[in-house]
Amino acid sequence: MIFETKRLYTRPLIVSDIVNLNQTLMDVQAMYAYAHAFKPAEVLAWYQRQVQRYQQDGFGLWALIRKEDQQFVGQCGLTKQTFNGAPIVEIGYLLQRDFWHHGYAIEAARAAKQYAFEQLELARVWSVIRDNNLASMNVAIRNGMLVRGKEIKHYYGLDMPHFGFAVDQNKSNSNS
Ligand SMILES: CC(C)(COP(=O)(O)OP(=O)(O)OC[C@H]1O[C@@H](n2cnc3c(N)ncnc32)[C@H](O)[C@@H]1OP(=O)(O)O)[C@@H](O)C(=O)NCCC(=O)NCCS
Repeated sequence: MIFETKRLYTRPLIVSDIVNLNQTLMDVQAMYAYAHAFKPAEVLAWYQRQVQRYQQDGFGLWALIRKEDQQFVGQCGLTKQTFNGAPIVEIGYLLQRDFWHHGYAIEAARAAKQYAFEQLELARVWSVIRDNNLASMNVAIRNGMLVRGKEIKHYYGLDMPHFGFAVDQNKSNSNS
């Protein structure tokens, strides 16, 4: 286990989770902010990237598991990214559609923030979100973040405006 909340815990992804990753990454509705649903080879590359992150960075996107029945509900974790050229650490969350609207994403995101501040001792943590992804922005806002800037990301042949949300360790207490 990496961290836990009242209803959930995270653990590293394992190869047998790929079938679960497919449920989100190959779901065109869940992936609207990425402009396309992944193909099987892209899901495998995604999984391998997380394993590489665990080894290189000590963190990545982890499996998000519901305690009551060990159900895989999605992924949440921390990844190294850049925002307008500067290195940042981002809280990421992707849930299978069956598990949206239960408050699981914000519950996990708050715990990921706490992990970033207490275990990794980061001063600031980010969520970088495409401008059409209102559900994700609401998670960032509930997680105590403010919008800090904008960047146009070039992905899948498209220009995608993204907002950079962030929260600082010394300002997060009232929102955690
Ligand atoms: C972004 C994403 C994780 C948000 O999931 P979510 O379930 O909407 O987020 P939350 O956990 O904050 O849940 C909030 C909803 O649960 C409801 N809820 C129910 N029980 C709750 C509880 N105990 N606590 C909090 N909220 C609760 C809230 O009322 C809210 O409902 P609403 O969406 O109808 O307003 C999800 O849309 C997703 O996986 N999208 C695809 C991947 C993606 O784009 N990821 C982000 C990339 S930047």
